Amino acid sequence: KSIQIIGVPVDLGASRRGTDGGVSAVRIAGLGEKLTKMGYTVTDEVDVAVPSKESRPKETTGNMRFRSEILQVCQDLAVVTKEALNKGNLPLIIGGDHSLAIGSISGIADYFQEKGGELGLVWFDAHADMNIPGISPSGNIHGMPLSHLLGYGDKEFTGILSVNPKIKPENVVLVGVRDIDEKEKELIKQSGIKVYSMRDIDELGMSRVSDEILEIVTKGTVGFHVSFDVDGCDPEVMPGSGTLVPGGVTYREAHLLLEKCAETGLMTSMDLVELNPFLDKGNISAERAVSLVLSAFGQSVL
Ligand code: ARG
Ligand code: MN
Ligand code: MN
Ligand code: MN
Repeated sequence: KSIQIIGVPVDLGASRRGTDGGVSAVRIAGLGEKLTKMGYTVTDEVDVAVPSKESRPKETTGNMRFRSEILQVCQDLAVVTKEALNKGNLPLIIGGDHSLAIGSISGIADYFQEKGGELGLVWFDAHADMNIPGISPSGNIHGMPLSHLLGYGDKEFTGILSVNPKIKPENVVLVGVRDIDEKEKELIKQSGIKVYSMRDIDELGMSRVSDEILEIVTKGTVGFHVSFDVDGCDPEVMPGSGTLVPGGVTYREAHLLLEKCAETGLMTSMDLVELNPFLDKGNISAERAVSLVLSAFGQSVL
């Protein structure tokens, strides 16, 4: 099986500088080499071009900061992920902040929609990323990708490649969530997506939560994408990220979820986002993130 790694060094969607460096951090941690060692062919590694914040007019306020730049990045990325699938490769997108997921998942969902199939989606995150312009307290687009994939918000972002919503609410699960904005809560309820909070993980255990998640995202779908925001993990596991929230998923729980994802054989693609090496201790967060990705691709102890 062949994997196409797609680097998207974007940090325009977040307040803090530095998630653009997440792409190098993950490469330096050996992602490509380690997947190759597992027996995968890593092919046609590419990057999507992203303008630096310094090269753009300052946008410190607004409903949707750096809207035009991020729209362009997402439109370009959607073409690249769809093309990867057309060539028979599994897209593995490394970021970059979470705004890029509007692009990566639009391309992937569009590829399957053309074939008449629905895409499932596992959204691993401390945040819900369900804001839309007008309700977002920050104007940061990395807090808005999931809403746009469900068809809410800015019409140019929801309309990338096609006008249909990319994902149906019954095929989405949010997991690891523990920090949601007031108005974002209402949109989550309205959307009807399933949410597994930290409390659910505490009460049910990650093993059962993973089984339930996988049942939802595989039912009536052709497979599922995993959008993995490293801040879903506890800050002690992943210190290298910009919007840390205490009380997160442990390293072992995250591995278990991803191992179970791999076991289904139905994971179509994955994003790894929100690593910020400038906030990290050494490169520990990227190294752990790579190890988690290997679990998602089927690595096991024996
Ligand atoms: N909810 C907050 C906002 O809209 C934080 C979002 C953080 N998102 C992330 N992908 N880390 O600004
Ligand atoms: Mn996120
Ligand atoms: Mn997050
Ligand atoms: Mn379904």
